[in-house]
Amino acid sequence: MKTFVFAAALSLAIGLMAPWGTAGAAQKAPDAQLQLSDCVKCHPKVVHQNQEAGGKHRTEVTCLDCHDAGHPPATPVDKMIPKCSKCHEGEPHFEVKNCLDCHRNPHTPLKITFPKNRKVKPVCKTCHAEQVKEVNQNPSAHAKVDCSFCHFKHGYIPSCLKCHKPHRKGQTFKDCVSCHRVHQPLNVAYGPNVPNKNCGACHGKIRKLLESGHTKHAKLHCVFCHKKKHGYIPACQDCHGVPHPKRLIKNFKGCLACHVDPHNLTK
Ligand code: HEC
Ligand code: HEC
Ligand code: HEC
Ligand code: HEC
Ligand code: HEC
Ligand code: HEC
Ligand code: HEC
Ligand code: HEC
Ligand code: HEC
Ligand code: HEC
Ligand code: HEC
Ligand code: HEC
Repeated sequence: MKTFVFAAALSLAIGLMAPWGTAGAAQKAPDAQLQLSDCVKCHPKVVHQNQEAGGKHRTEVTCLDCHDAGHPPATPVDKMIPKCSKCHEGEPHFEVKNCLDCHRNPHTPLKITFPKNRKVKPVCKTCHAEQVKEVNQNPSAHAKVDCSFCHFKHGYIPSCLKCHKPHRKGQTFKDCVSCHRVHQPLNVAYGPNVPNKNCGACHGKIRKLLESGHTKHAKLHCVFCHKKKHGYIPACQDCHGVPHPKRLIKNFKGCLACHVDPHNLTK
């Protein structure tokens, strides 16, 4: 941030009285100098906006730090408007274009709205590089839309259910994100606590088969065996090592020649 002068601008020459004839100018102009306390007399709307939601543009700077170049009629109106870069410099976020596209009103700088037809992704990247990288490196339908397709307001988090049907009745947003990472939705991965009913939403037959079995496998969760990543298939030996003498099983084509089905073991 550039240093800027607070006090030096506390007052400024207004020049001779002129018949402005607009916006509250019926007011008599103050004498030769405009004080900070004068602004409200003719610009009450701006002052009130600033008081209500000015944030640091109220507490860290005053009207006259920004509008320090004079005042009409001595100074033309367009000379009164400061560039943001006067004070905001040196960070990636301050290198983007058209600040007022999002910070619509400099007097209420944190009231941010995203413009409809502007891609905001490059701006998000200046603060959320990790999420932008994640989206870009994992092609999916979610990567084809702009961030603001979902986050249409800064900080707003939509539920998946706003746009998608669940795989089974009663599934919640929490369920969705236990399997899908939203910025890479096609890489389905999960922890050890996903209940069988969430797998059963698509693998209903296997769930029934497993849970109606009479061996110890019936008590195991799908994700106890199919760990971490959707589609992963474990080998029996991962958990059981070699439980029978080699001699005994070498003539059989794998464990399932006798045990039939991991979801419906025969013992
Ligand atoms: C006596 C009334 C009066 C006072 C007091 C006054 N202004 Fe103004 N101001 C005006 C008028 C009228 C205009 C419009 C001039 C024009 O369009 O030629 C104006 C224009 C401006 C503009 C440019 C607006 C634009 O259209 O871009 C800014 C910025 C501004 N004033 C800031 C201030 C600040 C800051 C203060 C307090 C230090 C202040 N004014 C005090 C009457 C006033
Ligand atoms: C952080 C810098 C900053 C501060 C502080 C600031 N302004 Fe402004 N002001 C601007 C900028 C930038 C614009 C031009 C906005 C635009 O182009 O839409 C502007 C525009 C204006 C305008 C004309 C547009 C309008 O909304 O009516 C007036 C009047 C004005 N300011 C008055 C004030 C007053 C009074 C204060 C103190 C309460 C103040 N400003 C504080 C930066 C500032
Ligand atoms: C005269 C100096 C000055 C100008 C010009 C200025 N700012 Fe600021 N702005 C500050 C200061 C000082 C802060 C508080 C310190 C910080 O956050 O860096 C601030 C803070 C902000 C904040 C955070 C507000 C908060 O409450 O946390 C935003 C957003 C912002 N400025 C946007 C802008 C935009 C957009 C412009 C151009 C329209 C602009 N500023 C012009 C001085 C300025
Ligand atoms: C695409 C929308 C967008 C644009 C364009 C944009 N900003 Fe921001 N800006 C944001 C968002 C979102 C935040 C985060 C606000 C928060 O934390 O609540 C932010 C925060 C800020 C902050 C406060 C946090 C900080 O890092 O100090 C400042 C200052 C700021 N912007 C200045 C600017 C300036 C200057 C420009 C133009 C060079 C600009 N912004 C352009 C969306 C935008
Ligand atoms: C100037 C920096 C800045 C910019 C630009 C910015 N953000 Fe943020 N964002 C933040 C900060 C700071 C937070 C609060 C972080 C926290 O609560 O941990 C945040 C929070 C969020 C959150 C909520 C996180 C949560 O856990 O609740 C989302 C979603 C978000 N930003 C999306 C975006 C999107 C989309 C963009 C682009 C339009 C964007 N942000 C631009 C700084 C920024
Ligand atoms: C399809 C909708 C969608 C899109 C597109 C999207 N997000 Fe998100 N984002 C979400 C949801 C939903 C969450 C909450 C995820 C959770 O809680 O697990 C989230 C969370 C976040 C968070 C909070 C931290 C985190 O990682 O959970 C940030 C920051 C964020 N998104 C930024 C972005 C940015 C930047 C983009 C654009 C590159 C983007 N998002 C694109 C829906 C989306
Ligand atoms: C704002 C709407 C929106 C939100 C919120 C949203 N999505 Fe999507 N999602 C879409 C659209 C649009 C598509 C592409 C068309 C389709 O498949 O329906 C899509 C596609 C997908 C796909 C298929 C991806 C592909 O490339 O084929 C998955 C998986 C997905 N979404 C999961 C989720 C999950 C999980 C969440 C919540 C964490 C979520 N979505 C939140 C709009 C959204
Ligand atoms: C138990 C893990 C799991 C949970 C929980 C889950 N999903 Fe999925 N989802 C998947 C798998 C696996 C696929 C991929 C199926 C395939 O390859 O066809 C998928 C595919 C999708 C698709 C792509 C289109 C389709 O229907 O095949 C969308 C959209 C989707 N999920 C949204 C959601 C939403 C919304 C939720 C929460 C209500 C959710 N998912 C909960 C595992 C899960
Ligand atoms: C949205 C539906 C859906 C959900 C939910 C789902 N699956 Fe699947 N699953 C599929 C589809 C479709 C296939 C077959 C296509 C493929 O190979 O991706 C499949 C294939 C599999 C395969 C076999 C992969 C192969 O190589 O033959 C395993 C193992 C599997 N799923 C386990 C699970 C587990 C465990 C869960 C719960 C964490 C689960 N699935 C949740 C739809 C789903
Ligand atoms: C992720 C680990 C895991 C995998 C993979 C696995 N099992 Fe098991 N299996 C177990 C556990 C845990 C038990 C219960 C052990 C106990 O309680 O003593 C078990 C028990 C068994 C039993 C005894 C059942 C009973 O009721 O006494 C047989 C037989 C068996 N497994 C065969 C297999 C076969 C064949 C495969 C491959 C198709 C396989 N297992 C894959 C973990 C696994
Ligand atoms: C004891 C470990 C274990 C448990 C528990 C388990 N599986 Fe499996 N699953 C396996 C093994 C081992 C295979 C590979 C069988 C083969 O080689 O034919 C397999 C294969 C599959 C396949 C692909 C082949 C097929 O039969 O379609 C799917 C889908 C599947 N499991 C889903 C599930 C679901 C859903 C659950 C929970 C309801 C579940 N599994 C519980 C070990 C397990
Ligand atoms: C020739 C048939 C056959 C083959 C091949 C076979 N098993 Fe078995 N297995 C059995 C029989 C029969 C039992 C029951 C023994 C008992 O209850 O004492 C058994 C029991 C088990 C048990 C339970 C042991 C216990 O102490 O309760 C496990 C675990 C097991 N087998 C795993 C495997 C694995 C892993 C493979 C593949 C490497 C395999 N079996 C191959 C016939 C076979």
